[in-house]
Amino acid sequence: MKLAVVGGGSTYTPELIDGFARLRDTLPLTELVLVDPAAERLAVVGGLARRIFARQGHPGHITTTSDLDAGVDGADAVLLQLRVGGQAARAQDESWPLECGCVGQETTGAGGLAKALRTVPVVLDIAERVRRRAPDAWIIDFTNPVGIVTRALLEAGHRAVGLCNVAIHLQRKFAALLDVPPEGVHLDHYGLNHLTWELAVRLGGPDGEDVLPRLLAEHGPRIAEDLRLPAPVLARLGVVPSYYLRYFYAHDEVVDELRTKPSRASEVAAMEERLLKMYEDPALDEKPELLAKRGGAFYSEAAVALAAALLGGPAGAAAGTGPAPGSVQVVNTYNRGTLPFLPDDAVIEVPARVGPDGARPLPAPAVDPLYAGLIANVTGYEALALEAALHGGRERVFKALLAHPLIGQFTQAEDLTDRLLAHNREHLAWL
Ligand code: G6P
Ligand code: MN
Repeated sequence: MKLAVVGGGSTYTPELIDGFARLRDTLPLTELVLVDPAAERLAVVGGLARRIFARQGHPGHITTTSDLDAGVDGADAVLLQLRVGGQAARAQDESWPLECGCVGQETTGAGGLAKALRTVPVVLDIAERVRRRAPDAWIIDFTNPVGIVTRALLEAGHRAVGLCNVAIHLQRKFAALLDVPPEGVHLDHYGLNHLTWELAVRLGGPDGEDVLPRLLAEHGPRIAEDLRLPAPVLARLGVVPSYYLRYFYAHDEVVDELRTKPSRASEVAAMEERLLKMYEDPALDEKPELLAKRGGAFYSEAAVALAAALLGGPAGAAAGTGPAPGSVQVVNTYNRGTLPFLPDDAVIEVPARVGPDGARPLPAPAVDPLYAGLIANVTGYEALALEAALHGGRERVFKALLAHPLIGQFTQAEDLTDRLLAHNREHLAWL
């Protein structure tokens, strides 16, 4: 089984490699190719990757290349984990929206739109090349903004599934609090990428008992602290919003906070520099502790499980619950009636049964208007954001910003449009 990782020179890659090594029975890789245009960085990360495999006795062969076509040739699955413009572009996304009183964040709000505009054309180009060199490959997209990027891939007819680690992170947290194995915890996780709520936490599978009320009663303050939301808010909602809902529920507070501290991009850039130095050490043969300070915890577990299910591996066969084949995982895929208040071609983030034919969302519970309204609003924004990413043009950018629930005002949308375009000239071919 051959898997290619595009953006394989990322400092995240050792997290992934560690997962591939630990979970090799779930995903029996024979060949892993790390693809990245940054050759020097790739050599460093590739070196550590090989040492991790060697230490853990993984028989798979790891190669590195800056030649995308050769790297993905004949792959069974291609994982996309790239960042157009690197942390420098992210730093921009996190700063100029603040000048207009809006949250500066890499996937939420105006910064997220900038990222989508830079990223969609690059990812579509990569996917076309994958289609030529590996027509049957599954594309697993971890590249943000995952919802918009996955929709772009699906609309272009690619075999793609979007992946985020928010759900698996919460699943692992809740399992620890409940003192049960993570596989035994099923989340009724509904919404869009980075705009989700856990509506129920079930034991044993999708039809299991909902222990969310108990979890909130016993551990509410601890969960709230983790999400950086006030405990009474969580208790009143009775559901668990993702960390990203903080940018909505506490928008102004977050803006004030972001104005006074260094950007996450600068923190991450400093961490990356330290990580790369560590990776250079030929004695290092495991992922360093420092990597846990990045947001991608459990990304590797989620990626391994998803790839295994898509490729019909043992996880797909063994983890299946109920009579239908395939394992249940939280993914980004077409709505197709799952959330009846959204268009069929919206991309949603929900539990789905995943197998070699792709992802089929489980039937969804009714979603309270308190959440459905916001989900529908952001879906409208995402549709317009994709239009702008695909076709360019100042007016399309403006309309996407105007449609965003955190923006919505004419003057602010105009102002943000100017800033977005000014800061992204080198990345937008249509400018
Ligand atoms: C979480 C999100 C990812 C995001 C990451 C940021 O894992 O699900 O989509 O990329 O956080 O983490 P960072 O360490 O780069 O701030
Ligand atoms: Mn994510």
